[in-house]
Amino acid sequence: MAPVESHELRRGKYAKLDAPVDDESPTRPSFDSNASSYEDLEEFDPLNYDAGTLKQKRSTGNLRARKASFRDAEFAEKAPRKRKWTPSRLCCGLVLLFVAATVLLLSAGGIWAWKSAPKDGLSPPWYPTPKGGQDAAWAESYKKAAKLVEQMTLVEKVNITTGTGWSMDMCVGNTHPVPRLKFPGLCLQDGPLGLRFADNSTAFPAGVTVGATWNKDLMYQRGRAHGKEAKGKGINVLLGPAMGPLGRMPAGGRNWEGFGTDPVLQGIAAAQTIKGIQDEGVIATAKHYLLNEQEHFRQAWEWSTPNAISSNIDDRTIHEIYAWPFAESVRAGVASVMCSYNMVNSSYACQNSKLMNGILKDELGFQGFIQSDWLAQRSGVASALAGLDVTMPGDGLKWADGKSLFGPELTKAVLNGSVPMERLNDMATRVVAAWYQLGQDDTKTWPLPPPDGEGGPNFSSWTDEEVGFLHHGSTDGSTGVVNKFVNVQGEGNDFHGNLVRRVAAEGTVLVKNEGNLLPLDRNGWKADEKAGQMTKYRVGVFGEDSRLNKKGINNCKDRGCNEGTLASGWGSGAVEYPYLVEPLWALRQQFNNDSVYLVDYPSNHLPKDKTLLEEQDVCIVFANADAGEGYLSSDKIRGDRNDLYLQKGGDKLIQGVAKGCGGGKGKVIVVIHTVGPVLLENWIDEPSVKAVLIAHLPGQESGNSLVDVFFGDVNPSGRLPYTIAKNEDDYGPGSKILFFPNGLTPQQNFSEGLYIDYRHFDKQGIAPRYEFGYGLSYTTFHLSSLLVTSHGPKTPLPASRPKGIDPPTFSTDIPDPKTALFPPGFKKLSKYIYPYLSSTDGIKKPEIQTNMLQSPLSEAGGAQGGNPDLYTEVLTVSASVTNIGLVDGDSVVQLYISFPQDYKDPESGEPVDFPVRVLRGFEKVHVEAGRQGPIPGVKGSPHGGGGNSKKVVFKVTRKDLSYWDVKKQNWVMPTTGEFEIQVGFSSRNLPLQEKW
Ligand code: BGC
Ligand code: BGC
Repeated sequence: MAPVESHELRRGKYAKLDAPVDDESPTRPSFDSNASSYEDLEEFDPLNYDAGTLKQKRSTGNLRARKASFRDAEFAEKAPRKRKWTPSRLCCGLVLLFVAATVLLLSAGGIWAWKSAPKDGLSPPWYPTPKGGQDAAWAESYKKAAKLVEQMTLVEKVNITTGTGWSMDMCVGNTHPVPRLKFPGLCLQDGPLGLRFADNSTAFPAGVTVGATWNKDLMYQRGRAHGKEAKGKGINVLLGPAMGPLGRMPAGGRNWEGFGTDPVLQGIAAAQTIKGIQDEGVIATAKHYLLNEQEHFRQAWEWSTPNAISSNIDDRTIHEIYAWPFAESVRAGVASVMCSYNMVNSSYACQNSKLMNGILKDELGFQGFIQSDWLAQRSGVASALAGLDVTMPGDGLKWADGKSLFGPELTKAVLNGSVPMERLNDMATRVVAAWYQLGQDDTKTWPLPPPDGEGGPNFSSWTDEEVGFLHHGSTDGSTGVVNKFVNVQGEGNDFHGNLVRRVAAEGTVLVKNEGNLLPLDRNGWKADEKAGQMTKYRVGVFGEDSRLNKKGINNCKDRGCNEGTLASGWGSGAVEYPYLVEPLWALRQQFNNDSVYLVDYPSNHLPKDKTLLEEQDVCIVFANADAGEGYLSSDKIRGDRNDLYLQKGGDKLIQGVAKGCGGGKGKVIVVIHTVGPVLLENWIDEPSVKAVLIAHLPGQESGNSLVDVFFGDVNPSGRLPYTIAKNEDDYGPGSKILFFPNGLTPQQNFSEGLYIDYRHFDKQGIAPRYEFGYGLSYTTFHLSSLLVTSHGPKTPLPASRPKGIDPPTFSTDIPDPKTALFPPGFKKLSKYIYPYLSSTDGIKKPEIQTNMLQSPLSEAGGAQGGNPDLYTEVLTVSASVTNIGLVDGDSVVQLYISFPQDYKDPESGEPVDFPVRVLRGFEKVHVEAGRQGPIPGVKGSPHGGGGNSKKVVFKVTRKDLSYWDVKKQNWVMPTTGEFEIQVGFSSRNLPLQEKW
């Protein structure tokens, strides 16, 4: 039997969230659909809209006032409780005084609460939910799905939209099966960098490292290996990749799960990852939709506030920045999207009809299913009507209490007409279609779970023992084999560790390399340094980050501590390492002992014995910065970083090493493992600091990937997927984490709009330390021969939206409520979520089904990813990149576009503001060093390196050349003025430019 601790360890993940405060949760109760509360329907009551105007009738009363009274009531309720504490008459006076003070305080609180009540109506309504099955690319899957769903009963349909409850089955999310029709329950498992809570699987490099490779092929390969591992463990749905947070705030706790602070980089990396995962037949999940940019207040109650933070943003910024990677994901065919915890414009993301119905399902033509983040669903009917298809983990407002906002509540809502049968049919069909689309109906590759086959998840998220509880979260004591320890790490050439090593090496960014200190020679002194050297080459390694965590590599739950070398951030996006290659060990292995003498002091304190520093020729110093998901905290970092400096004394350590190394004459190499941008100003200009490597989060092959770069086996080709500033303030006011609530519902206004990261630096003319896209190589590249070919004249709008195919239709008859009752003699597991009702009391069949008003379909829609004409190639841009150095290497050629200056909207004459430039494409190319003579006329070709060249080609689409016009609600290409096409090596090194 599994030891109790191991259960506790993992379940502990959410233990805090179950804290007593939940008992007073004022969040919407799961709906009793016959008496639907206004709160429940605050987002949208379809019956409460005036036909034709799409304006909300005010008849439901003033929501703001109502909310205030709602909250006042809550406070009023708390006060009498205190009276219970009255021990005797003696202290009555005191108690009265206390009560009076409390009441006073509470009423002050009430006023405060009233003042901070979120405004309603800030997120426009979009109804009804577009049906899946309108895209030809999914036609077959929908046909098959319709055949299956057609045969399902009401409760069976509900079952596949509802998770069984937190920790009730093997995976972090599990849906119910429909055994009668041989439709299995689905296993949904984290996360974006590997398989959480699984054994014998790979800890890949994190998203930020992958983004830093700028290597599309590696992005795909990593996704593919990840998908293969998931399939091997019986996982149907992988909860990744993450592309939100995008990184608006450089200290955002989960930025590292995604690929970098630019929508195009993020979008390409996400799409490549999704293609890789889905090519293995596993459903990928694009998450978190949308605007979960910081951890603080992301979720109701997690931070003591009764509501999650509201990210308040304008429509253009949504389109041009934050939704862009999701558009690319949908275009790549992603079969699931996860809606996020936070609110967007005062409406919870998982019940925000504009985001889900409007943008995702209509405009972007998303054909798969939307699942909620874990407990991100905050309402029943409103969520279903706004486009939520699946609730995860099934639990409603609290963890593992057996009460769902879907499940029996959805059954009821359909029976009494609050949720149209049509909507439920679509919800179920979207899930089944996704399953067919990925070929998971093929029982050869996806055997059915027992009793029909040997398939299903072959591991348990809740114990590491072979035998364990079958329903861990329930009091049901049944046990069985839950871990089969299937090794999915690949073998031989396909061993995924090899890929990890490559990605991690390519995701390492060399930002400084004075005097070409790197690469080092394994034998110590380089040929030109050797003369007169009598001693061995002496290397000192410093910093705790160079060694493993002494308490074990997986010591902290979900990697939620920063001890020893950092190779992953923490949270649901982390996994258990199968092994972790220690940087210090790898360095020791690689240096030749006969000619190199290596000493180490793997601590963040300087050695007391100064000779350890003074005697070195080279000092290698490691430091790091960690962050993670907000349910865990470490070193007072509650998810989001508190500042952008190195942690655990890293800066001081580097300063000390820089000063002391070789008695001031040594050369210092700094290695940084980090979740995102760190400020380097405390030491970057120290004369002894010759080289700096930003190795991001390398995953299990950390040390190996590092030595690959150190000794030049891999020529560094990583580029920064974000900007490194000189000062934290340089990122702009919008870059600050909101650490303290500014209301009962914290509000965060994305007032900077499009201007995040380099867009902000460029607009404000701020010099960064190292710009977005920057990174050095051991060779030198030269760009030439820019050619811009236009495929036609500029035209403002894309072609009209193409008509899709017809979605499947189903009977919308509502069954007899009695068919939804628990079958006689049904054995219920405690806390397990079922679709059945205990009684049909109070359920009345709806009299008339009111037709919902149809929101106008978007002209920007019409296929997966949007109107296909948006992806028509308008320009072809090509350039030639030449390696003019001495060693082979990979160059990342980047394409940026500046929109026409002083452009005005042709109709209104209003100026339209554009960023100075935006990334629109990149290509990584391997170019061998030339072996002939110097290139005539090319500066920087001093060593006669000669020049091998490669041509890079970029396809520039209509969307790339358009902005989101909020009035037209479409992508508009400026037809006056000139675009500038820029090709270069970073966002600030763009030697080739041409107008169009
Ligand atoms: C995270 C998701 C994750 C889910 C399941 C949530 O707390 O935000 O990213 O997929 O948990 O573990
Ligand atoms: C809140 C204020 C806050 C402001 C900026 C508003 O919506 O009500 O309290 O200062 O947003 O975030």
